[in-house]
Amino acid sequence: MKQYIVAGNWKMHKDIPESRIFVSNILDKLIKQQRSTIILCPPFTALFNVYELIRNTSIALGGQNMHSEPKGAFTGEISGEMLLSAGCQYVILGHSERRHIFGETDDFIRDKVKRALQVGLKPIICVGEKLNERQSGETLDVVRRQCDSALSVVNEQEIGHCVIAYEPVWAIGTGVVATPQQASEAHSMIRKLLSAKYGAENAEVIPILYGGSVKSSNAASLIQAQDIDGFLIGGASLIEDEFVRIAEIVEDYVKQREL
Ligand code: PGA
Repeated sequence: MKQYIVAGNWKMHKDIPESRIFVSNILDKLIKQQRSTIILCPPFTALFNVYELIRNTSIALGGQNMHSEPKGAFTGEISGEMLLSAGCQYVILGHSERRHIFGETDDFIRDKVKRALQVGLKPIICVGEKLNERQSGETLDVVRRQCDSALSVVNEQEIGHCVIAYEPVWAIGTGVVATPQQASEAHSMIRKLLSAKYGAENAEVIPILYGGSVKSSNAASLIQAQDIDGFLIGGASLIEDEFVRIAEIVEDYVKQREL
């Protein structure tokens, strides 16, 4: 069955007390979601505290990044095993802020994807073009290259543990959201690519999330668009009412679809 996901990427926001208060305040509302998966991705320092609050619920925990090596002299880095031991099931990899602020390459991200799957974490693989790439008509080429690289280490059994997130860089944190048509075009290309690599049946159930200025005011039109299976949310995931509302919109959509 297809999985629909609403994931909150808190980025470098919320210390431990703030994280605990935030999760306590929205927990009752989020656990009502039956058909969509909620994933919270707090900063590393708050992971375990958040895990303690959600451990007996259907809400899942995700890291925002990890290193590709299991251990070693990598000051400031976190391994997949460490994320697992803090309660994570998911990890965001290749986020545009990692690619463009911290210079992570396609190859490094590919190695992280491989490692995440080896340790039993589900990677949320982020792809997306920059504004100049869209303007010069390269969007689909960029997204294809990023997907091809990250998925080059993923076999047919493992693809079922992966989530793809299409996040156009120009839409992240800018308030400029992709139109449902723009998002759909990229998502459909990704679905085709998945289908060519892993077969249509496998491709159909791999969640492809949209990210970039998702809010409660635009979530309904985006979730209805072809091949959009949920959201990776930054800014709006930090606001209790906004995050809950977006989760409700996705849940209502999925339930309606299944009627
Ligand atoms: P945004 O961020 O919702 O604040 O645009 C999305 C993301 O970076 O995942």
